[in-house]
Amino acid sequence: MTDHQEVPLDWMSGGQGAPPSAELRPEVPHPARMYDYYLGGKDNFPADRAAAEQVLSLSPLVRISAQANRAFLQRAVRTLAELGVRQFLDIGTGIPSAGNTHEIAQAVDPAAKVAYLDNDPIVLVHGRALLAGSRPGTVSVLQADLREPKAILADPAVRELLDLEQPVALQLFAILHFIDDADDPYAIVRTLVDALPSGSYLALSHATGDFAPPEDAAKGPAVYRSATAQLSMRTRAQVLRFFDGLDLLDPGLVTAPLWRPDQAPQDTDHEVAIWAGVARKP
Ligand SMILES: C[S@@+](CC[C@H](N)C(=O)[O-])C[C@H]1O[C@@H](n2cnc3c(N)ncnc32)[C@H](O)[C@@H]1O
Repeated sequence: MTDHQEVPLDWMSGGQGAPPSAELRPEVPHPARMYDYYLGGKDNFPADRAAAEQVLSLSPLVRISAQANRAFLQRAVRTLAELGVRQFLDIGTGIPSAGNTHEIAQAVDPAAKVAYLDNDPIVLVHGRALLAGSRPGTVSVLQADLREPKAILADPAVRELLDLEQPVALQLFAILHFIDDADDPYAIVRTLVDALPSGSYLALSHATGDFAPPEDAAKGPAVYRSATAQLSMRTRAQVLRFFDGLDLLDPGLVTAPLWRPDQAPQDTDHEVAIWAGVARKP
């Protein structure tokens, strides 16, 4: 990718048809592009790669954790689709990678609908390609900020695609650790879950420092301090709180590779720094 400052997005925003312009800020490391680099993608800039390499030098497990997170996303979506969910609200979509939510859900039912939301303009740019290959009327890619859950629920484009009176899978994969305590991530999740009917699901994954030696736990967040979003690692107990009032599916909240694995266990499975779980709203 070549560096450039501004990309005009002829992107459907909120269904209004007005093309917003977006500042890509390639000189500032961005979590979506750093994550793309961990996954082996090419949609990242030198500043993203430098910051990502800094994090990887602190722990090579970060790359394993990113891959394990992506694999968990795919198993969780497949599980939800097989449970009969046909509507997916995927917030913090990320740059499209192999096995995106709509590809997995629509392999189970081609009519499954997916609203992708992200606050990163580069994700929206790539979303165009994603939409081009999808079945018309089943996928939207929208710019939104998780810190404004009421705006997400009121977004006409979300409501046009998803029927919020019917069960929805709310997907928050590897995004809540970018929400600072000051923005009250628990209230954000509660607002979204409260708006969904019984039979809906919450699927999430979250970075943790639970397995890092205490002297290393603060180093990853320190690298992200120079990025466009801060990293707030949380303990297992803190992540579990997101599921308050919901019924966790087996095997509960576990490290990402241990959630219904479909491959032989690896030695590192227990220390992959991502907590992962799926729960049903009773
Ligand atoms: C690590 S990626 C995860 C991508 C994908 N969900 C996955 O798990 O493979 C995190 C994504 O969250 C997005 N993000 C971070 N903070 C956000 C916010 N406040 N609102 C919306 N998206 C946000 C980033 O732009 C990035 O695309």
